[in-house]
Amino acid sequence: MSAHNRVEVMHGVNLDQLGRRDPGHYGGLTFDALERRISTYAQELGLTVRFFQTNHEGEFVEHLHSLEGITDGIVLNPGAWTHYSWAIRDALEIAALPTVEVHLSDVSRREEWRRRSVVSELCVATVSGEGPDGYRTALARLRRELAA
Ligand code: DQA
Repeated sequence: MSAHNRVEVMHGVNLDQLGRRDPGHYGGLTFDALERRISTYAQELGLTVRFFQTNHEGEFVEHLHSLEGITDGIVLNPGAWTHYSWAIRDALEIAALPTVEVHLSDVSRREEWRRRSVVSELCVATVSGEGPDGYRTALARLRRELAA
């Protein structure tokens, strides 16, 4: 029996370029440093994390397809796909796992096109604008969900 503590942290398009992106929105951490930070948060919360990042939408979709039986929940930052990828939205529905959506920046206070998320209706919560700390918030929220 699994302890319901396995979390897949999925990053989408351009997030591997953190460190080169506008620090005003995304802070100064590199992507590797962000993943290390998330690993520390997970350890503190007693969760086991695995990471996945791609810049290819089909790979992101196929990764969602592959998660059955492998993880208990998802922390999802699809990057710009958040705002328009119905394919990722449908794949997330197929995955049917408790998911928390995260954005480093506050997408509600940026361009109009960033205000829409096609995945949020499938997520138990959305965390936006807390920077890297948002991943701690998301993992804690997911842990509550997995314990329920
Ligand atoms: C983002 C916000 C998106 O609008 C943007 O396209 C990203 C990153 C964030 O983490 O703030 O690539 O998801």
